[in-house]
Amino acid sequence: MRAIGVHAPERRLTNAELSTQVDTSDEWIRTRSGITERRIAGPGENPSDMGAKAAGQALQRAGLRPEDIDLLVVATMTPDVPFPATACLLQAKLGLRKDIPCFDVAAACSGFIYATQVASDMMRSGDYRRALVVGAEKLSSVVDWQDRSTCVLFGDGAGAAVLEKTDVKGVGLLGNLLGADGSNAELLHCTDGGSAFPPTEESVRERRHCLRMNGKEVFKLAVRVMADSCERVLAKCGVSSDQVACFIPHQANIRIIEAVADQLKVGMDRFPTNLDRFGNTSAASIPLALEEAWRNGRIRHGDLVLLVAFGAGLTWGATLLRWHEPKN
Ligand code: UT7
Repeated sequence: MRAIGVHAPERRLTNAELSTQVDTSDEWIRTRSGITERRIAGPGENPSDMGAKAAGQALQRAGLRPEDIDLLVVATMTPDVPFPATACLLQAKLGLRKDIPCFDVAAACSGFIYATQVASDMMRSGDYRRALVVGAEKLSSVVDWQDRSTCVLFGDGAGAAVLEKTDVKGVGLLGNLLGADGSNAELLHCTDGGSAFPPTEESVRERRHCLRMNGKEVFKLAVRVMADSCERVLAKCGVSSDQVACFIPHQANIRIIEAVADQLKVGMDRFPTNLDRFGNTSAASIPLALEEAWRNGRIRHGDLVLLVAFGAGLTWGATLLRWHEPKN
């Protein structure tokens, strides 16, 4: 990973403001989830726009130009439009070359980890030297703003990473684990709006195009599967949790993160979080947290970092990487 960039919309929606819209309270949201505010994108501010800003910052930090990129993978569960891929819209906005592959990965909250793995494998086996991996979400567009059990949890934003092939041994992505369980898809899903149930006046009136979640079940599975994924990827790489400088978990709920840290017997000082200010931003959550940890000096050259996520699908993933800051 050569550089990382982020973008969050200006508009902050606080718990206090939400409490005037649905039957909730700042106290409930903070104590049950750890969230105090989230960012909300404006009407003309779509995942490709937020992704372009995040990618622009990553390119600038890497000292690269758009034409230096050989591959673009976008992780999103809230694409700008059903088709074409948000990656193609982003390619045009960034002015990337026209001879490169650009496509989306749909793995919800695990999307950034899936996309990073796909890009890294394509770089290893193909002619691609530098890839841009972007997680960008506008969850405010699929949240049911009358459902207090979900609308308080989600937010909008984007993060982008530049991956680059290197001859340096033992740096970058060291090990990875991906998984999915479609038999539990209904625990976190959106029933209508796709080809099985195209939108109708009735479905829109009943808000069937909105996200629905069985929070309790997802919570339990998230803890078990994220802790297990960390342990398995560490074992695969022959690394102990003590050697990991920083764990970057998907930012869904502070209680989930605390439970994962507890199961791994790792202190919360090695689990930086930012969900208090951004809420759950799905595929953007890991790059937003990773960038903040790096910017705050929590991740330094040579450190081992473990990314771990769980989300709709159900999907999950964990990636162990050694942070490497090449001298340009
Ligand atoms: O990104 C993918 C991964 N997503 C997640 O990991 C989310 C996982 N789930 C969660 O984070 C938690 O389950 C929630 C934050 C969604 C809910 O927390 P909980 O402790 O599981 O609460 P609950 O669903 O058991 O609800 C407890 C009570 C209920 O009232 P009764 O039935 O006990 O009277 C709810 O109706 O809290 C009520 N409630 C609320 N009250 C005030 C639910 N939402 C709210 C709300 N404000 N916003």
